[in-house]
Amino acid sequence: MKNLLSIEALTAQEITAIVELGADLRKNRAATPQVLTGQTWALIFNKSSTRTRVSFEVGIRELGGSVMFLSGADTQLGRGEPVKDTARVLGRMVHGAVIRTYAQADVEQFAEYSHLPTINALTDEEHPCQILADLQVMHERLGGWQGKKVCFLGDGDCNVARSWMWAAARLGFDLAIGAPKAFQPPAEFMEKLGTDKVVLEEDPAKAVAGADVVYTDVWVSMGKEEESAQRIEILKPYQINAGLMQHAAKDAIVMHCLPAYREKEITDEVLEQHADVIFHEAENRLHVQKAIICWMARGEG
Ligand code: CP
Ligand code: NVA
Repeated sequence: MKNLLSIEALTAQEITAIVELGADLRKNRAATPQVLTGQTWALIFNKSSTRTRVSFEVGIRELGGSVMFLSGADTQLGRGEPVKDTARVLGRMVHGAVIRTYAQADVEQFAEYSHLPTINALTDEEHPCQILADLQVMHERLGGWQGKKVCFLGDGDCNVARSWMWAAARLGFDLAIGAPKAFQPPAEFMEKLGTDKVVLEEDPAKAVAGADVVYTDVWVSMGKEEESAQRIEILKPYQINAGLMQHAAKDAIVMHCLPAYREKEITDEVLEQHADVIFHEAENRLHVQKAIICWMARGEG
């Protein structure tokens, strides 16, 4: 069994296989393969969560496994026990781990020392499960991503934006990041990304122009709370509202990974107009994460 630590580490074929399997599992939830029978998985979360926690707890049970939720603060990790020691202990007891934390390096070190199948449930660098669920929405609602334009607005250097950029690089669709200079990814990241499919655009109207998917995320990611006032001020022009939506393609869909802060990154009006897609997106977390675990169990990761 392998790991799912980033979109960066996946190939186009792997992403497509996971998304298609997620769509199959959505159509036939009752026929979920029992790939985790007899297994116990640990969910280790150092940050808050609603969707990710619930979808993994439900999904692991539907796959035949048991699940244990460990809040980072309640374990010895919260008192400074090193990740590599925790990993070696859990590696002898449980069968898989889902981790939400700050440093990507911690998730990678956990996987290395535990030898457990390990899933990144959000770090400061990537949110791969979210973007796989989002791609499943594009597959189901738009017939795929080929020839489509996605526009991400807001903090263009956050975990969700970075995972979108890796997805565009791997799958070859057009992605515009609409963000002020201070919230665009640094040159070193763009160099590593190595694609002309991702465009950084300061003008929100130009970023949205002709987009099939208009996407946003919170302006204040977990861990950035002390920068709240400054972020809200600088990111104001990047709000998804009816005026900005005039620049998108006629049948554009709006997506949001949630939680949403109304009248900040998106107006209540636009969110409610597109609620059907946005909550479909949230639901897909369940289906695509079951697909990720099935794919890992097949040893294809
Ligand atoms: N989108 C997402 O990951 O939501 P949670 O923080 O509620 O898990
Ligand atoms: N960028 C956000 C995503 C929340 C699901 C954060 O890290 O808080």
